Amino acid sequence: MAQHESTYQPNTGVERWLDDRLPLPRLMHDQVNAFPTPRNLNYWWTYGGILTFCLAVQIITGVVLAMHYQPSAEMAFDSVEHIMRNVNWGWLMRYTHAVGASMFFVAVYIHFFRGLYYGSYKAPREVLWILGVIILLLMMATAFMGYSLVWGQMSFWAVTVITNLFSSLDSIIPGVGTAIVEWIWGGYSVTGTTLTRLFSLHYLLPFAIAGVVVLHIWALHVPGNNNPTGVSVKQNSDTIPFHPYYTTKDMFALTLFALLFAWFVFYAPNYLGHADNYIEANPLQTPPHIVPEWYFLPYYAILRAIPNKLLGVIAMFGSIAVLFLVPWLDTSRVRSARYRPLYKWFFWLFVITCLVLGYLGAKPPEGAYLTFGRIFTAYYFIHFLIIMPLLGAIETPRATPKSITEDVLDKASKGDGDAGAIAGVSGAPAAPETR
Ligand code: HEM
Repeated sequence: MAQHESTYQPNTGVERWLDDRLPLPRLMHDQVNAFPTPRNLNYWWTYGGILTFCLAVQIITGVVLAMHYQPSAEMAFDSVEHIMRNVNWGWLMRYTHAVGASMFFVAVYIHFFRGLYYGSYKAPREVLWILGVIILLLMMATAFMGYSLVWGQMSFWAVTVITNLFSSLDSIIPGVGTAIVEWIWGGYSVTGTTLTRLFSLHYLLPFAIAGVVVLHIWALHVPGNNNPTGVSVKQNSDTIPFHPYYTTKDMFALTLFALLFAWFVFYAPNYLGHADNYIEANPLQTPPHIVPEWYFLPYYAILRAIPNKLLGVIAMFGSIAVLFLVPWLDTSRVRSARYRPLYKWFFWLFVITCLVLGYLGAKPPEGAYLTFGRIFTAYYFIHFLIIMPLLGAIETPRATPKSITEDVLDKASKGDGDAGAIAGVSGAPAAPETR
């Protein structure tokens, strides 16, 4: 997997026996315990572990929910209420799963913006980044299908609106879009047949995500982690073993994240949801405002910003597709925004753009909301397609440190307590590197 030499020493006879047949303990030792990790990772690097936790929580709670859920138009809504009221701890499973979807997206967006800020998508981590974007797409598909299963008003109408988007293909080849939509529906409208297939795929996709996550971590362990300086690892003193340093740091961050998660589950489980989804699906009554869950709002704003349906759909999918190109759109030779005086500002402008698009996605597409929707949609694409390539040419990056160690020692000598402890200059014992 990774390029560093194995330091695994089987101690017992059983370990030696297994090592010759299935060297799983060796893999764990080399890829987790002893994995050389940059010594300067900050808390934004703890989200990969947090995301793995979120995926596990969704799979475990989801499997339990599926034991009691009924994927039919007649039973779906009632079976969810049955889980809430009759099944032992059913309410906890359901609220954890529903809040868990939101927490998963909070974590993935932070993880994604961290990558954008520190240039973690740049060579040699392009494949790692592309796998991340694939995971993001799979997460979106999974969340969309999961939301439909409740079979409330928002579920039903969200499925109707989103599946109908394929009908826009009719404007290219008449009839093809409608044929695709009817094929997805399994009929001439959204029915129990549609629900059954959404359930089947909703159960399947998280395991596909888990598979891509394994590839994602594999692709991480070949070049190793990027770090806040963006400077590559050059010498042994630039790294520390993953365990116990980052296992401890990750556990601490995960505990804080779990507290926030638990606060939502126990005190505000419906805060992030829509009240209309507690009304059973009614194909004869359209809700006044059909809005997706918060994590889809920016894309929804992009979809509605363009008056032509097909172009709106292309823009919405394009807003994700453009992420695949980011490693090549960024032409700067420096990775981290820390040393990029202009990119730093444009990064924050982009964050604000995404937040504003999210706000606009929840508003009706009319008047000033629509005008701003168009401006910010245009800016979203300008950021990637014009600003990123241009900055590489016009920006003069600040001098980067020669090595990670130099940066850490420099901070330590300026009196940063943490860095001092890490560097060992404030009396803390030196890291017992065993590489
Ligand atoms: C289920 C979702 C995901 C899981 C479980 C996951 C897991 C991880 C883990 C464990 C790491 C190493 C620790 C860290 O850097 O935080 C990592 C790194 C990384 N991930 Fe993800 N990830 C997910 C989604 C994504 C997405 C959506 C993207 C971007 C589109 C992405 C891009 C990256 C990049 C670029 C790195 C390398 C970071 C660096 O070393 O600077 N990941 N991921």
